[in-house]
Amino acid sequence: MAHYNRPVNPSSASAPALTSHLRLSELIKAKTAVVGVIGLGYVGLPLVRAFTAAGFRCMGFDIDQTKIDRLRAGQSYIKHIDATTLSNLIDAKRFDPTTDMARLSEADCVIICVQTPLNESRDPDLSHIDSTARTIARALRPGQLVALESTTYPTTTRLHVLPVLEATGLACGRDFFLAFSPEREDPGNPQFQAATIPKIVGGYDENSLDVACALYAQAIVKVIPVSSLEIAEACKILENTYRAVNIALVNELKVLYDRIGIDVWEVIEAAKTKPFGFQAFYPGPGLGGHCIPVDPFYLSWLARKHGEQTRFIELAGEVNSHMPHYVINRLGEFLNDRAKPIKGSRIAVLGVAYKRDVDDPRESPSFELLKSLLERGAAVTYNDPHIPTLPRMRHYPSLPVMESQSLTVEYLNSQDCVLIATDHSAYDYDFIVEHATLVVDVRNATKNVTRGREKIRKA
Ligand SMILES: NC(=O)c1ccc[n+]([C@@H]2O[C@H](COP(=O)([O-])OP(=O)(O)OC[C@H]3O[C@@H](n4cnc5c(N)ncnc54)[C@H](O)[C@@H]3O)[C@@H](O)[C@H]2O)c1
Repeated sequence: MAHYNRPVNPSSASAPALTSHLRLSELIKAKTAVVGVIGLGYVGLPLVRAFTAAGFRCMGFDIDQTKIDRLRAGQSYIKHIDATTLSNLIDAKRFDPTTDMARLSEADCVIICVQTPLNESRDPDLSHIDSTARTIARALRPGQLVALESTTYPTTTRLHVLPVLEATGLACGRDFFLAFSPEREDPGNPQFQAATIPKIVGGYDENSLDVACALYAQAIVKVIPVSSLEIAEACKILENTYRAVNIALVNELKVLYDRIGIDVWEVIEAAKTKPFGFQAFYPGPGLGGHCIPVDPFYLSWLARKHGEQTRFIELAGEVNSHMPHYVINRLGEFLNDRAKPIKGSRIAVLGVAYKRDVDDPRESPSFELLKSLLERGAAVTYNDPHIPTLPRMRHYPSLPVMESQSLTVEYLNSQDCVLIATDHSAYDYDFIVEHATLVVDVRNATKNVTRGREKIRKA
């Protein structure tokens, strides 16, 4: 069995280690260390904001030229990241976005925030981490810290990043430092931002842990050091698996409670009054986003590799991926009650972002809902205040080009059914219910609507 304890200061006796380690610690303490963030997406850009707000100069690296051009033009492509803040930072030379990876050597601390998707066979796709490691290796110099933040299975940092960096001839813990610190960003959640979410840090060795903790402590509210890279990796994937499994549980209970006429949302509201031992999770049309539908399968893949099983993960995946079909079946029943088939009915899907108040459509179950309704012959349109045009999705090539419709009285009136798939807070639910003829609510978004409740069906 493998053990992943930190080497105890593997080269603390040697002068270069002492010099590199102390020099970097000094730079971090003085906030003169330059922080380079690789991957300026939903995780990387908020991290830049956190480090610049803490007083560090940041460089941002991405292979996507469009993103860099937009940032340089003073635009933000992430709704909750303010464009003015970014352009002020760029003007003040506090933030320097670039595609020039040779400039990685200018950064003292390099933080990797690239995507970690599943491939066509739903196995981990580490190609972005692998190519980033190779890119860093080409620019690596003594005295740098490299921290991986992308969510991945335990052992990735040690087996995919470390060897590539050490192939340069530089030694980890002596010449450069390596850490894993999972990002726990919750986009669109106004209560928590990168800087206010406690940060788990695992280091390859004591020097690495030391400098990584010192860096994050300057910008993040609380730092929790753990004993190895693998504990930090496993911690993040536990958190996401916990969510996937508990969401599956309430989704399954929703189907049962629906069948026997019990409102699952009221049950959860009641249960969450218990001050201990219960945490509320909510049902929905299925899982969405880059994390919860994807990350647990990184763990199942690892389990298979070790001859083990992750039955909870598989079962949760099965339950959650069935939810869009359940919603469509229920919607068909509700239309049927009004003597209407899905075929030919005008159906408006409200919300294609995967969750409330974000502009991120990745893995959103709304795409499955749109596809199923179109396959059944419905005349489908959509509205999403955060997604004006339906993006092309890899798994849904057959979906037509669609524009978000305005939620006017005429539009709502003309629909046979309005399906609330994502409960954006910009929606006026009283208005929607007032002007729609049938509302299928998958998120309990209409809970406070008092007039026209006879038109609402939950699914
Ligand atoms: N989105 C979230 O809410 C969230 C929350 C916590 C953790 N995470 C994890 O953080 C990681 C990043 O997620 P994200 O949502 O920010 O992804 P994203 O797709 O929004 O951003 C990733 C960025 O990395 C860039 N990139 C890819 N390969 C590159 C390379 N070789 N060099 C430079 N740039 C490269 C892409 O162009 C893209 O801009 C993932 O592992 C994800 O699981 C995401």
